[in-house]
Amino acid sequence: MVSIHQRPAWTIAEAQATPEDVFFNRRTLLKSFGFGALSAAAISTLPGIGRGAEPDPTADLYPATRNTLYKLERDITPEEINSRYNNFYEFGSHKEISQEAQSLIVRPWDISIDGLVEKPFTIAFDDLVRRIPLEERLYRHRCVEAWSMTVPWSGFPLAALVDLAKPLSGAKYIRFETFNDPDMASGLKQVWYPWPYVEGVTMAEARNDLAFMVTGAYGKPLAKQFGAPIRLALPWKYGFKSIKSIRKITFTDERPTSFWEQIAPNEYGFWANVNPGVPHARWSQKQERVLETGLYIQTRMFNGYGEQVADLYKDIKDERLYT
Ligand code: MTE
Repeated sequence: MVSIHQRPAWTIAEAQATPEDVFFNRRTLLKSFGFGALSAAAISTLPGIGRGAEPDPTADLYPATRNTLYKLERDITPEEINSRYNNFYEFGSHKEISQEAQSLIVRPWDISIDGLVEKPFTIAFDDLVRRIPLEERLYRHRCVEAWSMTVPWSGFPLAALVDLAKPLSGAKYIRFETFNDPDMASGLKQVWYPWPYVEGVTMAEARNDLAFMVTGAYGKPLAKQFGAPIRLALPWKYGFKSIKSIRKITFTDERPTSFWEQIAPNEYGFWANVNPGVPHARWSQKQERVLETGLYIQTRMFNGYGEQVADLYKDIKDERLYT
């Protein structure tokens, strides 16, 4: 484990400053792109959108049928905005990684499933995605940096993957791991970060209906900058829990230590449930800036998903559930 104290002081400052710096640069950036007035031709040249995108052998699966149980009370964030503003530290510790992320090689892509399961196995993404029926869900996404977006994700419930994996009764957590190939993603050469990116959930969280394995967005296979070919969406938690480009899924009886938890445990914990009443160590979580409008709205408890998830936490005492 790389401790924050072992890294050069300037890298700490940069990583810690990112949220607020980018936060304020964002409006200028959007203005300079003139997103409101993008022509169809301009949109088709954006990474992962239209012309220029690689043919994808799973394209026939999209658009998936929308599951109308998962609704939004606000507009969907336009794809052209969402696909140019991403957190994917493997490609750089800033938001404009969409071009850089096109160097991600997504085929072949094997996912290993191991640990406390009946029989560990490796499955090709292209097989997995045809094993479980896909659906589309409209989800909110609330980043710990206090911005938010809404996305039409396609994929399947994490619970379906758990069933496929056949965990043993001793499994208490699932640990997810992203690829770790510095030749493919230059951010991985920043040795002061504790690569690979790791995240984890409890088995109860994994079985909750909202926990979703994402294989597509905006009616298409997942664009590289969103974490192709497969990522997680946990919409009641801060966005860093929604790990991208998953290569390894381990069922375990030990609580996984996540990437951000290793870097700054007092700021980014295991649970990271959205709660406007519990500030981040360096900023308030009361409000969030909507990516497409730049306007602030009130943040909701569990990002508005309390009805579905509050019960998961009612008996947990003495834990920092909201950072
Ligand atoms: N997964 C990996 N592997 N690497 C990352 O840097 N960033 C996280 C999460 N998953 C990240 C990741 C953070 S902080 C957020 S807010 C979301 O991805 C951003 O998802 P988006 O780029 O699709 O908006």
